[in-house]
Amino acid sequence: MAIRNVVQVGDETLRKVSFPVEAFDEKLHVLLDDMKETLRKEEGAGLAAPQVGVLRRAVVVDVEEGFFEFVNPRIVSQKGEQTGWEGCLSVRGKRGVVSRPMKVKIAYQDRYGNPQTLQAKGFFARAICHELDHLDGVLYIDKAEVVERD
Ligand code: NI
Repeated sequence: MAIRNVVQVGDETLRKVSFPVEAFDEKLHVLLDDMKETLRKEEGAGLAAPQVGVLRRAVVVDVEEGFFEFVNPRIVSQKGEQTGWEGCLSVRGKRGVVSRPMKVKIAYQDRYGNPQTLQAKGFFARAICHELDHLDGVLYIDKAEVVERD
């Protein structure tokens, strides 16, 4: 595994729509392993492939519920609303108040291409929504009511 460089806001990579993952191969597994190691080093809650310069629809999330890898994730249903603070490893030194669904259900594939579903609520749901936005070139600062120095 290797630590990858996290792309910072201003880099147009973060504004692009990522492509679906089609090959569930060693290259994907190395990417996911590197994303996990990078996320742990940065002590973040989530990381999306475009944040390490790879325009593929893959994210990792590390929260109380555990560590998760989501390939080609999409939200299939959502419920409720929560408003709270979040930050982003690509927007260093800032945090903002963002409204997100309280609960989400997602469909995705695991690293071997097997279809899966998962339900999340609270901060876990927030982290998923934040990371999925990255796959469409959206940053939390686009949605935040308030952004301030951390
Ligand atoms: Ni982020």
